[in-house]
Amino acid sequence: MAEKWTPHSWRTKPIEKVPVYPDADALAEVEARLRRYPPLVFAGEARNLKQQLADVAEGRAFLLQGGDCAESFAEFHADNIRDTFRVMLQMAVVLTYGAALPVVKVGRMAGQYAKPRSSDTETIDGVTLTSYRGDCVNGMEFTPEARTPDPQRLLRAHSQSAMTLNLLRAFAQGGYADLQKVHRWNLGFVADSPQTERYADLANRLDETLAFMRACGLSDVPQIHETDFFTSHEALLLNYEECLTRVDSLTGDWYDTSAHLLWIGERTRQPDHAHVEFMRGIANPIACKAGPAMTPDDLLGLIDVLNPRNEAGRLTIIARMGADKVEARLPALIRAVQREGRKVVWACDPMHANMVRSSTGYKTRPFDRILSEVRGFFAVHKAEGTYAGGVHFEMTGQDVTECVGGAKAITEAHLSDRYHTHCDPRLNAEQALELAFLIAESLKDDRSKENGSAVAAAR
Ligand code: PEP
Ligand code: CO
Repeated sequence: MAEKWTPHSWRTKPIEKVPVYPDADALAEVEARLRRYPPLVFAGEARNLKQQLADVAEGRAFLLQGGDCAESFAEFHADNIRDTFRVMLQMAVVLTYGAALPVVKVGRMAGQYAKPRSSDTETIDGVTLTSYRGDCVNGMEFTPEARTPDPQRLLRAHSQSAMTLNLLRAFAQGGYADLQKVHRWNLGFVADSPQTERYADLANRLDETLAFMRACGLSDVPQIHETDFFTSHEALLLNYEECLTRVDSLTGDWYDTSAHLLWIGERTRQPDHAHVEFMRGIANPIACKAGPAMTPDDLLGLIDVLNPRNEAGRLTIIARMGADKVEARLPALIRAVQREGRKVVWACDPMHANMVRSSTGYKTRPFDRILSEVRGFFAVHKAEGTYAGGVHFEMTGQDVTECVGGAKAITEAHLSDRYHTHCDPRLNAEQALELAFLIAESLKDDRSKENGSAVAAAR
């Protein structure tokens, strides 16, 4: 029998990867303020996302989750928010065409500030300081002052998340996401890229479809004029999450109102530790990363705790195995879940296990490896007869040079040109769109083969 859950029951469990604040009183004061701050999202919205993810679990929709590895205070700008939103809209249109399914859009945005680091400290030229843990904890600059965890940063992260979310809501519901504007979403700097022509071609086809719909009197369909866009982040700083966890007056359930979806990272998924304890009690849709070391028993144990009622849409498993391991490690996990009849969404994060260091010293991710992990993920699901439900990318709408490769072939020598990430290397807008086209093609191929075999079977 599980012990009673409360928003603070995690405090009695061991915890990994969280900062130690030097001033406990200052932290307590910030927490007291956060408890009074308004929720960022509403329970009804989180339920709506859970419903849409239930459709993904059942093969009727596709999940696109993407955004920064770490949002930052320095890069906070309306244009950056718009550009990432815009490239996600473009990717969603491309994927909707390929899969002929609705695409559920979830940003790693409006709250993705905290990072679990492999090492607690960093040493440069003999000087050792606390690692940078994300802008909501400390500063990136390598000085003792910047690296000391400062609780005031939590308040700033909350305000910035509120401002980001406010703009995202306006973009999603206020006309920007209208499918009739599909041509205008093209990004300026992508003008001379191979993706531009493909995208323009698709946008033309969409225009024709919309014109046809208008002619049929179907122009007032709300889905054409606005979209749902949800937010998500890793629930790493449990004190912050606890302060924003509130009872929903309609259902009496606890919701973490800091984002629609929260996930547990690969480094904090120990079943008897604090992060799993916190996540089991919130009613939001949640996700959990699954790296190559995860065993089928680990996974089933986590599912028992995190989704005891076996609700479709409650739990997404984000596999991040690495291009070289996905085909070896994923099938056993899928088989265990199938054997036990558990309902999960399977998503692929092809970023976090495909990191390499360039000869010039930058952390990078080769585009080919990213694509190869996605392909491996789809191939495994096909072989197992299960549904590859979605993808999870670290990406930005900006023209950065952080991942090598892609149609425009960013080389190691280019990495230093525009390497702006505060943590891991992200796909730039063009690479993200290219990946969407490649995934859409394979979804389309699968669909036409399925249709072909259905026709053959009917004969
Ligand atoms: C992340 O998503 O930024 C992350 C740290 O991932 P993981 O927990 O899979 O390593
Ligand atoms: Co990352």
